[in-house]
Amino acid sequence: MAIFRLSKLLAYYAFIPAILAAQVGNTDPMTNQGLLGDLVGMPVSNLTNAGSLLRAWLLHSGSAIGPDNPEPQPDCAIDVCCPWQVSSVTVFTQVFKLIELSRYAVSKELSTLFVNSTTKECTDDARAAVRLGFHDAASWSKKSSAQENNGLQDFVGKLVDIHSRNPGVGAADLVQFAAHHGIVSCPQGPRIVFFAGRKDATVPAPPGLVPDVHDSAQNLIDLMMDKTINAQDLAALLGAHSTAKQFHIDEAQSGAPQDSTPGIWDTNFYNETLQTNATTGVFRFPSDIALSQAQNMSEPWKAFVGAQQFWNQEFALAYTRIGLLV
Ligand code: HEM
Ligand SMILES: *[C@@H]1O[C@H](CO)[C@@H](O)[C@H](O)[C@H]1NC(C)=O
Ligand SMILES: *[C@@H]1O[C@H](CO)[C@@H](O)[C@H](O)[C@H]1NC(C)=O
Ligand SMILES: *[C@@H]1O[C@H](CO)[C@@H](O)[C@H](O)[C@H]1NC(C)=O
Ligand SMILES: *[C@@H]1O[C@H](CO)[C@@H](O)[C@H](O)[C@H]1NC(C)=O
Ligand SMILES: *[C@@H]1O[C@H](CO)[C@@H](O)[C@H](O)[C@H]1NC(C)=O
Repeated sequence: MAIFRLSKLLAYYAFIPAILAAQVGNTDPMTNQGLLGDLVGMPVSNLTNAGSLLRAWLLHSGSAIGPDNPEPQPDCAIDVCCPWQVSSVTVFTQVFKLIELSRYAVSKELSTLFVNSTTKECTDDARAAVRLGFHDAASWSKKSSAQENNGLQDFVGKLVDIHSRNPGVGAADLVQFAAHHGIVSCPQGPRIVFFAGRKDATVPAPPGLVPDVHDSAQNLIDLMMDKTINAQDLAALLGAHSTAKQFHIDEAQSGAPQDSTPGIWDTNFYNETLQTNATTGVFRFPSDIALSQAQNMSEPWKAFVGAQQFWNQEFALAYTRIGLLV
């Protein structure tokens, strides 16, 4: 997990809330869906460092994977957003201590939940975090009772506990932070750069926005296009099922994974979904099989087979987009 010092968090905080409302992109699932919110039409010269990075990544350029050992962030004195955000040095000092400490505490708590100390693979809580990040609308505690989130309640309860111990972090940020952390907790998972500063929603998201495992490929593609996720992004994101297990689609096979190596962030899922028969013990979703064969999806899908680094790069860019739609 890339953890930023507060000077950076403040810079991001200053910028991000305004861009959260998505603009509808074009309607071609084969092209990039463009910028979001107030990045649309914003002169490049007006952007902060964070804004420039997000702009590039939304345009599918560059890498959203951070270094394993992040460099110390530059001083507040040279951060253009810092003086605007911080009204007084005293406040800054207090807030700095509060937030920085609590972020590290969150990271530490999540690590104990997400990594199996025996196998070093990622745990059921890590998968739940990744799925929750995808399903997230910032009204996470209310939404957790929705049918679509069946199976996530246990993990949401744990996240509520972590939040109560770390009141300095936003709930919507915490959900996305946990998803990023869950991903990198799996061997071979990318360390996707994290931005803080989401606004917590006060009303639950309307139902029906989460994809249904029995829906047709066309409907699923359309649903995701409505979120500005094109076919290439969707193919990349679905690889998260590499570390998934199902508990509620077929309860007789509760706990069955979607590929043969659910503790590892690998490309076996792409390969195994394309095979005629399922690997023994693996439960393949009808939606994944349909999408792996669908027009505009099958080519990117096949391209991820055995291409770990390429998939990680594509996943990181696509997940960055998803994470801004909260
Ligand atoms: C067409 C889109 C998708 C459909 C229909 C779908 C459907 C499902 C279903 C039915 C489950 C099993 C739930 C259960 O029985 O407990 C599941 C699990 C999961 N999904 Fe998806 N999903 C989709 C996209 C995604 C995306 C984009 C991500 C992440 C980026 C994701 C991440 C996960 C993870 C990590 C799990 C495992 C959860 C756990 O083990 O607790 N899914 N998905
Ligand atoms: C960009 O910056 C200029 C100069 O500070 C400012 O006048 C202008 O309003 C800004 N544009 C937007 C869209 O924020
Ligand atoms: C860790 O992995 C071992 C071996 O597969 C398993 O028995 C144990 O339940 C796992 N622990 C957790 C917390 O996932
Ligand atoms: C798939 O399974 C069927 C039924 O068990 C079997 O007859 C067939 O040979 C299998 N195909 C492959 C490619 O393994
Ligand atoms: C595939 O993309 C083309 C445009 O590139 C579009 O006309 C077509 O409807 C797409 N197919 C699906 C299933 O979305
Ligand atoms: C894909 O799976 C098939 C069948 O299990 C296997 O023979 C093949 O080697 C796999 N390909 C890759 C690139 O892993």
